[in-house]
Amino acid sequence: MPSPEVLGLKLNNHVIVGSGLLTDQERNIRRLLAAGAGAVVTKTIHPHPPTSTDERILRLPTGMLNSTTYSKRSVDTWLGILRALAEDGLPVIASVHAGTPAELAALAEQVEGTGCRALELGISCLNEDDGPEDTPARVNAYTAHVRAATALPFAVKLAAGEGLEERARAAADGGADAVTISDTIPAAAVSPDTGGLELGGVFGYSGPAIKPLVLAAVWRLRRRGFTLPVLGCGGVASGRDVVDYLSVGAVAAQVYTALHTDMYGTLGRIVRETDALMAARVPGTTAEASGVAS
Ligand SMILES: Cc1cc2nc3c(=O)[nH]c(=O)nc-3n(C[C@H](O)[C@H](O)[C@H](O)COP(=O)(O)O)c2cc1C
Repeated sequence: MPSPEVLGLKLNNHVIVGSGLLTDQERNIRRLLAAGAGAVVTKTIHPHPPTSTDERILRLPTGMLNSTTYSKRSVDTWLGILRALAEDGLPVIASVHAGTPAELAALAEQVEGTGCRALELGISCLNEDDGPEDTPARVNAYTAHVRAATALPFAVKLAAGEGLEERARAAADGGADAVTISDTIPAAAVSPDTGGLELGGVFGYSGPAIKPLVLAAVWRLRRRGFTLPVLGCGGVASGRDVVDYLSVGAVAAQVYTALHTDMYGTLGRIVRETDALMAARVPGTTAEASGVAS
């Protein structure tokens, strides 16, 4: 089986660990790679993360709601971590965001200086105050500024939902090398005790329930002729889920929420299942059959 190439990185398999609390520590990143991850995306690094300490996760029967935003570690701390990981030649994708496109471009340059080989622009987190108004113009501005500042390959992470095709095309026009779909999706749960919203509002939803929505979004993009590589992300909990993303035209899949249960064991199982399914994959049954390029 040929090894997939994603953002210039030659991966051992199609399973990438997505950005989140579990990837906020160098030790976890190293252990996730040792457990078989094709690559790991860091928690989103931000020069001025919100200072609120009320960032929480809530498990629901169908997935997870979370009100977290960005890493609370300083940029300097992250630059040191990324340098150490790069020195060991590890396939790590730095997730980055900032308050303005110019600030994000400067951060991307700093990350490039560490030897880190790929970026993901984590610009679509909806848990910031009022959530970003994620328009094609906003996506294009962040993307184009980063493209002008760095030669590093990067993906732009977008949330599935209204206007996705326009936002994805804005990322492509701005010079992105790939898009990651999807970030968490806005959702709410009502507290039976208070009748108010859990976590105090509408926050990011992830896990098994969003997989069919994200599969549909990726499939539609491909059907409408979107040609940039897509990293599928949402609800992956098995090798079957990874292969489903490849079948609708993704080049690799990211897994996050599933890893909140038995992190390394779950990842190892997903990688083994994916490898077995890929080895047995019959040409013509997946992306090729649905008329999309894999
Ligand atoms: C607790 C938590 C923290 C997250 N933090 C980030 C983050 O810092 N940056 C980011 O781009 N995505 C973040 N995500 C989103 C995930 O990377 C992923 O896009 C999303 O959860 C959908 O995939 P999943 O269903 O496999 O979790 C976070 C998700 C969760 C549940």
